[in-house]
Amino acid sequence: MVNEMNNQNEKENNKNTVNNDKSSFDIDKDSIVSTSDLKIDGTPHIEVRGLNLRYGSAQAIYDVSVPIEKNSVTAFIGPSGCGKSTLLRCLNRMNDLIPICNYDGQIIYDGEDINQPSTDLVRLRRKIGMVFQKPNPFPKSIYDNVAYGVQLHYNPSRRKMNEIVENSLIKSALWGEVSDRLHELGTSLSGGQQQRLCIARTISVEPDIILMDEPCSALDPIATAKIENLILELKEHFTVVIVTHSMSQAQRVSDYTAFMFLGRLIEFGKTKKIFDTPEKELTERYITGRFG
Ligand SMILES: Nc1ncnc2c1ncn2[C@@H]1O[C@H](COP(=O)(O)OP(=O)(O)O)[C@@H](O)[C@H]1O
Ligand SMILES: [Mg+2]
Repeated sequence: MVNEMNNQNEKENNKNTVNNDKSSFDIDKDSIVSTSDLKIDGTPHIEVRGLNLRYGSAQAIYDVSVPIEKNSVTAFIGPSGCGKSTLLRCLNRMNDLIPICNYDGQIIYDGEDINQPSTDLVRLRRKIGMVFQKPNPFPKSIYDNVAYGVQLHYNPSRRKMNEIVENSLIKSALWGEVSDRLHELGTSLSGGQQQRLCIARTISVEPDIILMDEPCSALDPIATAKIENLILELKEHFTVVIVTHSMSQAQRVSDYTAFMFLGRLIEFGKTKKIFDTPEKELTERYITGRFG
């Protein structure tokens, strides 16, 4: 009884401390995901283990471990600044491009830790591609946008290249809209088409995993719906990891959801479970829109 009352008091106290002023929130151990909760149905395609990351002296990721299932969509959600993009960039070592960034922990992909100095970063970023928030096609033709990376990596015959470009545009659900104007500039397309072009460009070099950082945040609802449908198709061929600030998008497209807060992974699990019956009070408060 006394315990129950203490628990109740603790909950009340937490309620008082969580608000939009992040600095006033102190995460206790109970709020952080425990290793036993990091379950997926299959074997992980890529797995983060004990990742810590700092920008200079400011820590942005605290001891995050998370498995990513093959041929599934995993969504990272959480309030702005909680470390979603940072974590995503760790999956293909894009943070190496930020000089003040340093990190430790393992990321196991293909049975090896990609955080080793010996990792071939060109190959890694071909196998684990990234699509960004703002569509960023090259100032080249639609055809060349897709062919560019293929040329760099494989240097195929003209005929083979045509095939790869066509297949990539088909897989990114853009072929029907651009097949008769492949020589036009990629930047002349609408925002949603540009984003699908960027997805085609990523697909063209035969990645295993596609990372997407808020890929719809610059798009209108119709273009967003097209990308969301595309994501559901992409998981047939690829493993998709998506960062989104939209909880409805996470529910529509993802199989697994990881909820982050202040650099920690708070909860991870099947998307339906996270949204229907979250284990952590913090998750529940976030998904019901009580802060963020
Ligand atoms: N290039 C950077 N240099 C310094 N600090 C950064 C950099 N990128 C992100 N941060 C900091 O790391 C934290 C996490 O940021 P980010 O991963 O962008 O969060 P999210 O994607 O969840 O909004 C924030 O406090 C942010 O200010
Ligand atoms: Mg971000």
